[in-house]
Amino acid sequence: MGFLSAKSIAWLSVLAACGVANGSNLPRGNSLDAFIAKQRALSLQNVLNNIGPDGSRVPGAGAGVIVASPSTVNPDYFYTWTRDAALTMKTIVDEFILGNKKLQSYIEDFIRSQAIIQTVTNPSGTFLPNGVGIGEPKYKVDLTRYNGAWGRPQRDGPALRAVALITYSNWLISHGQKKKAKTVVWPVISNDLSYVGQYWNSTGFDLWEEVQGSSFFATQSQFRALVEGDALAKRLGVTCTGCDQAAQVACFLNEAYWNGEYFIANINSNDGRTGKDANTVLGSIAAFDVDASCDDASIQPCNSRGLSNFKAWVDAFRNATLYPINKGVPKGKGIAVGRYTEDVYYDGNPWYLITAGAAEYLYDAVAQWKTQGSLTIDKTSLAFFREIYPAAQVKTYTPKGKRSEFPSILKAVTNYADSFVEVVKKYTPKDGSLSEQFNKTSPFNPTSAADLTWSYAAFVSMSERRAGQYPPSWVPAKGLTAPQQCTPGSTRGVYAPATAAGAPDVNVTCTSNVRFEVNATSYYGENILVTGNTTDLGAWDFDNAWPLDASGYTAQRPLWAATIALTAGQTVSYGYIRQEDCGQDPIWESAGANRTLVVPACDPDADPEVVHVVTDDAWQGVTGSTGGC
Ligand SMILES: *[C@@H]1O[C@H](CO)[C@@H](O)[C@H](O)[C@H]1NC(C)=O
Ligand SMILES: *[C@@H]1O[C@H](CO)[C@@H](O)[C@H](O)[C@H]1NC(C)=O
Ligand SMILES: *[C@@H]1O[C@H](CO)[C@@H](O)[C@H](O)[C@H]1NC(C)=O
Ligand SMILES: *[C@@H]1O[C@H](CO)[C@@H](O)[C@H](O)[C@H]1NC(C)=O
Ligand SMILES: *[C@@H]1O[C@H](CO)[C@@H](O)[C@H](O)[C@H]1NC(C)=O
Ligand SMILES: *[C@@H]1O[C@H](CO)[C@@H](O)[C@H](O)[C@H]1NC(C)=O
Ligand SMILES: *[C@@H]1O[C@H](CO)[C@@H](O)[C@H](O)[C@H]1NC(C)=O
Repeated sequence: MGFLSAKSIAWLSVLAACGVANGSNLPRGNSLDAFIAKQRALSLQNVLNNIGPDGSRVPGAGAGVIVASPSTVNPDYFYTWTRDAALTMKTIVDEFILGNKKLQSYIEDFIRSQAIIQTVTNPSGTFLPNGVGIGEPKYKVDLTRYNGAWGRPQRDGPALRAVALITYSNWLISHGQKKKAKTVVWPVISNDLSYVGQYWNSTGFDLWEEVQGSSFFATQSQFRALVEGDALAKRLGVTCTGCDQAAQVACFLNEAYWNGEYFIANINSNDGRTGKDANTVLGSIAAFDVDASCDDASIQPCNSRGLSNFKAWVDAFRNATLYPINKGVPKGKGIAVGRYTEDVYYDGNPWYLITAGAAEYLYDAVAQWKTQGSLTIDKTSLAFFREIYPAAQVKTYTPKGKRSEFPSILKAVTNYADSFVEVVKKYTPKDGSLSEQFNKTSPFNPTSAADLTWSYAAFVSMSERRAGQYPPSWVPAKGLTAPQQCTPGSTRGVYAPATAAGAPDVNVTCTSNVRFEVNATSYYGENILVTGNTTDLGAWDFDNAWPLDASGYTAQRPLWAATIALTAGQTVSYGYIRQEDCGQDPIWESAGANRTLVVPACDPDADPEVVHVVTDDAWQGVTGSTGGC
């Protein structure tokens, strides 16, 4: 993969979560039970194998760094993504709380690594003063910045990281360690919540790193983070800056994405897709609370709209022309599912974590109906139920009475869930290794990144749900309702290095935003970067130069651009570099091409996104050509 050029969209990502087997999931005597018991333990171990400093598959990774996959070529996933790492850490925290005490050291290492990572200046920007650097999607495994062109920022990662750390903080408080939760962990969480409260209403790239817009998955995760963050702040007696945005995030989540049949995964974008996307299903399993109501504003798995959405998305993959792997599988049975039907990344195949995620979604819903002792089918969810239980009617079912259909309906949904796990089982190699995808075309081999951390983590969390093990509840007992009137919003964040957790004591620099715009005709696969003579601009070092973005590139105007926060008041000398497609030497502009710019004085109270200067440059020097790799 690789985010190559003007016309390529970013490609892919990764990620994950993990967990541990704790013996409660003993075989029940059929082969699916036996498979799951074995695969769950193996999957947890494989998650740990991908975490530094001692993970057997990731030499060189720092302590607490969760690597996406050991794969370094075709594709190169040897990085840590904030989203994948946070989802993986949530599963680790859940497994820890379920009893696997040896996982605590992984959690502690993770907190430290993330405290450091929050402060790293990167192509999304700096940590101080406005937190924009926190939106960077991925870093090198030694906790330094990744400088290549990428789909950035991504605004789900900080929310998911907050959720994982909030779950752990609540455990600390319940185990006599409130002081640690408050002084060590909260400062990390607080930066992430500030980021969410400040930027939830700005566009960013989706979890697949391809679409710039608003993503259902991100909004749902942001809502959870702000609600839980607010409750934790109250328990700790501290202030949550940003949590006041929760109600408006709920409004946006409930009003903006629903089209009457399903949730459109990406809005505020023009991606030309139907919008049926695993994005929405993975969002709801990350927001699952067994005690929440099906009408809760967080959109739980048992939500009627959620079930209709689930059906619309799964049905899109029942097309045997698109997915030969699903040929002949009748309706009502689980199939191999992928991200979205227009997907072309590695030919757009089914993913293990998504197929397991479909099962997890259904187990979650069943758990909620069991907890509530009631199941209401309405017009919106009727088609979902009819597919697996043809006698379903629009009404409320309860377990009362001899003829109650409640148990049969729950059984039908559970069997449907199991049938997705059967698909995972069928396509899992004998050694239990889980890559990112498995080929939709015979012989259905595993493909893309090997040993994907997120695949393993997803298997563990699915196994927990099937075994009746649920993460701590987070929805307030009175439930959540969204306001009727949606309005745009943003709360200015408060950012400080979480030094007690191990962050370096970085200090505030007063910055002004400079937008570098350069006309530079490039070929597919080539990138343009900017550098200059200050530390901010990378000190003429190619490895620290800033990648520009080609999203505004057209034949009429070959525009490459980026907005960069630079230390106010400095005079800088700067120029552009061409990065070739096959690792050829970078091409610098001709001698004498350097330009000079004075960064304007800053205004600490200004909108952090305001641009103070825009350059109007044209590439000066030779052009590049493809290496033909
Ligand atoms: C911001 O919020 C408003 C109100 O909910 C919504 O209409 C708009 O689409 C949102 N924009 C983004 C980029 O989130
Ligand atoms: C099935 O998938 C093929 C290949 O993507 C597509 O051309 C066709 O329109 C799809 N059929 C339906 C009914 O969606
Ligand atoms: C999927 O399998 C087909 C048929 O064997 C093969 O041509 C194709 O290259 C495979 N795709 C991937 C991404 O592995
Ligand atoms: C900022 O931090 C650096 C590195 O820790 C330190 O050398 C410098 O004195 C600090 N500056 C201010 C103004 O605090
Ligand atoms: C960068 O270059 C400018 C223009 O030549 C100069 O004024 C400035 O002092 C230089 N800054 C550094 C840090 O070298
Ligand atoms: C001009 O740019 C080059 C890089 O292209 C750099 O090595 C050189 O030091 C710059 N000159 C000045 C005076 O900043
Ligand atoms: C860049 O291209 C635009 C559009 O063609 C043009 O208006 C502008 O003058 C160009 N800038 C430079 C420095 O050539």
